[in-house]
Amino acid sequence: MSATVFVAGATGVLGHRLVDRLTDQGYDVVGLARDDAGERLVERLGGTARRGDVLDPATLDRTIDDDVAVLIHAATAIPDSQKPSDEEWARNDRVRREGMRNLLDAAGELRQVVFPSVVWVARQPDGSRFDETADRHPDRATQSAADVEDLLDARASDEGFDAAVLRCGFFYAPDARDTREWGEQLLDGDLPVVGGGLLGRRDAELSFVHADDAANAFVAAVEREASGVFHVVDDEPATAAAFFGTFADLLDAPEPSRIPGWLARFFVGEITAKGLTRPTPTTNERARRDLGWEPEYPTYRGGLRQVVETWDADGTLAELRGESRGATASRARGASARSG
Ligand SMILES: NC(=O)c1ccc[n+]([C@@H]2O[C@H](COP(=O)([O-])OP(=O)(O)OC[C@H]3O[C@@H](n4cnc5c(N)ncnc54)[C@H](OP(=O)(O)O)[C@@H]3O)[C@@H](O)[C@H]2O)c1
Repeated sequence: MSATVFVAGATGVLGHRLVDRLTDQGYDVVGLARDDAGERLVERLGGTARRGDVLDPATLDRTIDDDVAVLIHAATAIPDSQKPSDEEWARNDRVRREGMRNLLDAAGELRQVVFPSVVWVARQPDGSRFDETADRHPDRATQSAADVEDLLDARASDEGFDAAVLRCGFFYAPDARDTREWGEQLLDGDLPVVGGGLLGRRDAELSFVHADDAANAFVAAVEREASGVFHVVDDEPATAAAFFGTFADLLDAPEPSRIPGWLARFFVGEITAKGLTRPTPTTNERARRDLGWEPEYPTYRGGLRQVVETWDADGTLAELRGESRGATASRARGASARSG
């Protein structure tokens, strides 16, 4: 059923894909942007751009019209620095919690609200495979995601909309800033990964998903007017060592060196290190069954191949190789997959 969909975070890795794919499916999409470049991107993808900030309710009152039936809160301020400070994590929390409240307060009567949470909010204490029924164990990085899940649950029953929480695995994609940084660091021989090898003490399996597949799951959730919690991950959880080792092979880069979890803390901070050393292997069975979704890239091997082939075709690979040759100081930034 066609409808007007409002996407906060419409310029992000997930958000811009949503504008593109939902407009292709015939939805009217309004995308929130924070600057001229963001507005141009949303318009180029077929959406209607509106200027605003999820932390500034007055701007949202002006941008969310009453005809908006579906709201997607894909804005985030997950820290991207090497070793994020408390203030950076606090800003991420505000964008999640206050942002969600402000968006709901500014909207009229909604049919559905869709929120991208993170699979690592839940896990099994013994590290075994889990699904949507597993207990959550929120920590510093994920408490705000858990709070938004609870807020949506409460407001959905009070206000009568469908709330769909799509907990995603770690994103990667040719245009994702993290992925590009990983590629550059691997080519430089500068990306020590946690786990495996002689020095690796932890072999935590993590859940990943190509951003194209994540976006397709959101489109499916909107089309099916889904509600409930869904894990959006590929078919094969992988250790950081396997993921980055494969990425290095595809890039023809040196094999990344391995470091134990305790040492990763030193490079990337306690919070990110925990995200990389706590196993979060989960399954996409419910999303496949109830959303009729299936990943185009069922494993990180195929997904990373697509990343490298895209980079090869568009000149990024040559640029990264140039950058790596020019790189001097070792950045030793670690496998800093964003764990917020
Ligand atoms: N990245 C992952 O690995 C991952 C994994 C699981 C779940 N998720 C979830 O997926 C969602 C999208 O993540 P992403 O990786 O696509 O993020 P992203 O690429 O970093 O994009 C963030 C978006 O939020 C916007 N934004 C930030 N602060 C804002 C504010 N105060 N007001 C309005 N917009 C604001 C940014 O706008 P500008 O362009 O103006 O900066 C950008 O459009 C998040 O909820 C995240 O928690 C991500």
